Amino acid sequence: VARKIFLAGNWKMNMLAAQVPSYFLDFQQELDRPLAEIKGGVDLAFAVPYPLLAAVHQQDSGSFFLAAQNVHAATSGAYTGEVSIAMLKEAGAFASLVGHSERRQYYGETDESVAEKTKALLSASMLPIVCIGETKGQRESGATKDVLQAQISAVTQVLDPGDQVVFAYEPVWAIGTGLTATDDQAQEAHAFIRSLLGKALGEDFAERTRIVYGGSAKPENFAGLLTQKDIDGGLVGGASLQPKAFAAMANLALAATR
Ligand code: 13P
Repeated sequence: VARKIFLAGNWKMNMLAAQVPSYFLDFQQELDRPLAEIKGGVDLAFAVPYPLLAAVHQQDSGSFFLAAQNVHAATSGAYTGEVSIAMLKEAGAFASLVGHSERRQYYGETDESVAEKTKALLSASMLPIVCIGETKGQRESGATKDVLQAQISAVTQVLDPGDQVVFAYEPVWAIGTGLTATDDQAQEAHAFIRSLLGKALGEDFAERTRIVYGGSAKPENFAGLLTQKDIDGGLVGGASLQPKAFAAMANLALAATR
């Protein structure tokens, strides 16, 4: 099965709406093909802060997936400070990150809440981008596979084999540190994740579901990561804030299109 490459920028808590037009000018200038043609080869996504959704949606959103960085599982209610799926849809979003390690570390996101949010997004025909990955301590103590297994099984329990989900393997020790997993380390984790998906939901699901890599991905290391057979794209933090660097990664993804 040829899996279409999925490349998402995660702006985290950066950028202002006022900067969005010039970001997209620079981004498009650097792309090898017109933005409107990218989706023929690569699924491109931008995960942006809530107040920036509308501004990014105005930038030719038919060419890419607009995504939030988090969402609440309930449809509405007394949840001060939270944002519902209907609100995301109204702002033009089609996807949301779920369970980013920064949300797990700083805001108490658990495997259970990740599963709940994933299910809620799917029920609303939105695309969940489910983030998983081990910490430095967990890798060093040999617990990587156990951690991934626990994180994956919480989510696969609520999935059906027909569901559309993207998984992002983001080793916490590689996020924002400049330390990328080597191609082999990443491939090993991705292959393990795919095997878990196969056991839980069947080979068809495992073969067609994209597993993307995140953690200090940048133009200099992205081509190598994309040569690995179970790495289906990237979730990019820091480098996605630089429009030319992120466009260079989109160009590499287009060139690697299988
Ligand atoms: P960096 O690319 O800045 O390491 O961040 C990765 C990440 O967390 C993307 O979600």
